[in-house]
Amino acid sequence: MNNFEYQNPVKIIFGKGEINKLGENIPEGAKILLTYGGGSIFKNGVYDQVKASVKGFDMIEFGGIEPNPHYETLMKAVEIVKNENITFLLSVGGGSVLDGTKFIAAAACFQKGDPWQILSRQSPVLDAVPIGAVLTLPATGSEMNGNAVVTRVETTEKLSFASQKVMPVFSILDPEVIFSLPDTQVANGIVDAFIHVIEQYLTYPVNSPIQDRFAESILTTLVEEGPKVMANRTDYEAAANFMWSATMALNGLIAVGVPQDWATHMIGHELTAYHGIDHARTLAIVLPGVMHINRVQKKDKILQLGKRVWGITEGNADERIDKTIQKTKEFFESVGIPTKLPDYGVSTDTIDKICTRFKKRGFKIGEKANLGPDEIRLILEDRL
Ligand code: NZQ
Ligand code: ZN
Repeated sequence: MNNFEYQNPVKIIFGKGEINKLGENIPEGAKILLTYGGGSIFKNGVYDQVKASVKGFDMIEFGGIEPNPHYETLMKAVEIVKNENITFLLSVGGGSVLDGTKFIAAAACFQKGDPWQILSRQSPVLDAVPIGAVLTLPATGSEMNGNAVVTRVETTEKLSFASQKVMPVFSILDPEVIFSLPDTQVANGIVDAFIHVIEQYLTYPVNSPIQDRFAESILTTLVEEGPKVMANRTDYEAAANFMWSATMALNGLIAVGVPQDWATHMIGHELTAYHGIDHARTLAIVLPGVMHINRVQKKDKILQLGKRVWGITEGNADERIDKTIQKTKEFFESVGIPTKLPDYGVSTDTIDKICTRFKKRGFKIGEKANLGPDEIRLILEDRL
């Protein structure tokens, strides 16, 4: 196992009806900016619960944060934070609202020029406005980590940053919020969480049985509970298990002391940047290609995934690797997520653009930094 440091300060408030604890967790006298997305919170009762709990606080609202939040929109909120002397940001929504709020929190305190540099140059975040979150979509793990992904429409770039400073002070996770999610978003959540685990697990062995078994327990829970949530949105127990799986998938715990990949995410972000494809769907497209091209490098862990998660024990190593890739693809397809580029109308032009972009960046990706533009082309061509 590799050396590591781990600190996760996010307070999780989990369960039915817990949104009513919101007010008591916000610092007294705070001036709040409530951030939200396209309005789902008004239809499913979440906004009313939030409003009831924050009674007495001075609060302004900022809506319209898009899925794959736009830098251009977020900068409008940064102005409000500065002009109105906001001291607390309250994110009510899915990963996009929360990621966007993290960027607002950092950008409002950024002293060294254009805050875009936080994303484009990884300029350090020295300070940020504190954030509280009410999560409405289990998927990203953003509620218990310091990551954020932001899209700049003007340049078709989708970039991320990470900082302890933007970890929420608290996140409220009421599984009942998912009752109003459409099938597409539940499927996205299952697949995004599944692939977060894969990015931290499917690398090479470093003798880390705790991390491996934690990872496998999250994967098997998603495989068991995901379809229950798809079939019956108001199955509270399944909703709760799904929600906690998504948080555990990306709160840093299973990443400690082990190598991490993230190539699937980095390539997937380009598909969203150019085609607006939902984040999770881009991952479902790319992952089988990454597994295929890295079948030698990842051999031990692919076999372990096959055996422990999919129950594949028959055949020689090569056959078992093929079966494991196949089973993984079938799982995504079983929740209604196609895994080929043409399913999304994407052709070779986009592959060319993505490879040119990676060439310009000049660095290779993956746990062994072995994937450059040529390998990325093979991965994407595998998905045609
Ligand atoms: O905008 P509203 O009206 O709220 O509707 C949203 C949105 O249209 C809707 N929705 C959310 N909760 C709902 C609901 N509809 C009905 N009932 C509810 N309870 O769902 C749609 C999608 O929401 P979004 O927030 O975009 O989805 P998700 O949570 O999957 O977030 C995706 C974003 O997170 C980033 C992705 O790149 C993408 O930009 N990620 C962030 C990560 C992180 N911070 O650690 C890691 C991930 O890998 C991911 O990259
Ligand atoms: Zn993701």
